[in-house]
Amino acid sequence: AINPQDAWKQMAGVAAAELIKDGMVVGLGTGSTASFFVQALGLRIQQGLQIVGAVSSSQVTQTLAASLGIPLTDLDTHPELDMYVDGADEIDPKLCLIKGAGGALLREKIVASAAKRFVVVADPTKRVEQLGHHYPLPVEVVPLAITPVSRKIAQLGARVKLRQTGATPFITDNHNFILDCTFPQGISNPAELDAQLHRIVGLVETGLFINMASQAILGGPDGVQVFQP
Ligand code: A5P
Repeated sequence: AINPQDAWKQMAGVAAAELIKDGMVVGLGTGSTASFFVQALGLRIQQGLQIVGAVSSSQVTQTLAASLGIPLTDLDTHPELDMYVDGADEIDPKLCLIKGAGGALLREKIVASAAKRFVVVADPTKRVEQLGHHYPLPVEVVPLAITPVSRKIAQLGARVKLRQTGATPFITDNHNFILDCTFPQGISNPAELDAQLHRIVGLVETGLFINMASQAILGGPDGVQVFQP
């Protein structure tokens, strides 16, 4: 049996798949909620939906999409996508997001930024009043720069932790490291923090997605709800 939270994620994924139309180029997110979307999209394609192609935000999603017979493409062939669908770790009232718990934030942000619309799929546990209280903010860093970058982020008030798999650093799809940054007071100004972080040389990308999501689809106990910023 499927637990309630997974059922909510699935409702959101299925609802997002219904937004996909013939002829679209679609971006595929990463994570458990995005996987429900990818599965629902695969089913629609088996039933006759004809998309032009899909661009994946991670190796994991690429493998899943291929196994479902979803036609795959890339940003060189299709630099502009019609729609990107992905989950998030935290969603604030303006639809600013923290992403990257799965470690795919850089590719996710690249694919999201190539899309005309970004639809977030989630369950109600992801909604927050202010970012940064439930999840640390992940940032992707060039391995060579990990120590100076850690120190500079700590100077901004964060507790900084190198993400590990067992005893070794977690390696992203792009061969970088992830620093999980906890801001004890939360993130009061996501845009300002993002700008400060981007000034640190060696920091490749942050998990703050600001003014990118056009819509959130949340599955929940009362059905599917849609939010716009
Ligand atoms: C992956 O890097 C993340 O940005 C995911 O989008 C996020 O962790 C959401 O995943 P779930 O849908 O599994 O909660």
